[in-house]
Amino acid sequence: MEYSKSTFLVFGATGRTGQPFVSIALNEGHKVRALVRNPEKVVQRSTNLELIKGSISNFENIDELLDGVDVVICMLGNAQEQNKAPINTIFIKELIPAMRRQGVKRFLYQAGGLTRRYKERLPFMTWILRNTIARFSGLLGQHKDNETVIEYLVEEAQDVDWIVHRAAIISDGPSKGILKRDRKKSSLATHVDIAKYNYHIVNDDSAIHTYDLSYYEK
Ligand SMILES: NC(=O)c1ccc[n+]([C@@H]2O[C@H](COP(=O)([O-])OP(=O)(O)OC[C@H]3O[C@@H](n4cnc5c(N)ncnc54)[C@H](OP(=O)(O)O)[C@@H]3O)[C@@H](O)[C@H]2O)c1
Repeated sequence: MEYSKSTFLVFGATGRTGQPFVSIALNEGHKVRALVRNPEKVVQRSTNLELIKGSISNFENIDELLDGVDVVICMLGNAQEQNKAPINTIFIKELIPAMRRQGVKRFLYQAGGLTRRYKERLPFMTWILRNTIARFSGLLGQHKDNETVIEYLVEEAQDVDWIVHRAAIISDGPSKGILKRDRKKSSLATHVDIAKYNYHIVNDDSAIHTYDLSYYEK
């Protein structure tokens, strides 16, 4: 993929991962278009940043949003809503056909470290964490939603160059190092490191059709 000076369409740009991601992309000279519910939350200022006000739950002009876009990055989350309905899956099922119509191939979706791989069980300790911390924090719906997104991508979107990052985020704060992709190893990372990883991995052809974790290489 020709990556330099690409145009990114970002979902979740006002979030804890989305904000540093947008800064990185702008600093690297890319154009960023972002669908945001609250444009006032966006702190970045740039002529290369285009904000479109709207929600994934009631946005109609997805094709317009994709016009001229090279790469789509999705760092969405709304745990409360995802406990009621798989809002990300519903949206991704509209987004992917629109990407096909607009000829946009590259897609990164951020899920979680406690999200299961396609048709696989979680390792025992991860399963324990999911059924204690994630359950009591009200995050089960988010992981289930992420899993149905992965299922849809695997089963119905092999023609799209998608990459899923099962990110294990723990905190805000400064960088703790560089994250690498791995099937099994995972580190609790900072949002800024997750954002940097997303920026690099989306240009890594070897990551296409993977749903891996990320860890700090010592
Ligand atoms: N945070 C963690 O510790 C963690 C750990 C592992 C995995 N993850 C995964 O990574 C994802 C992103 O994490 P994060 O911490 O960066 O999330 P976050 O800070 O909660 O940000 C979520 C983003 O999604 C946007 N959003 C939510 N509902 C929307 C809607 N209906 N329409 C448009 N935008 C909407 C939010 O916009 P508003 O600003 O308008 O609310 C915000 O920009 C999570 O959903 C989860 O799957 C997170």
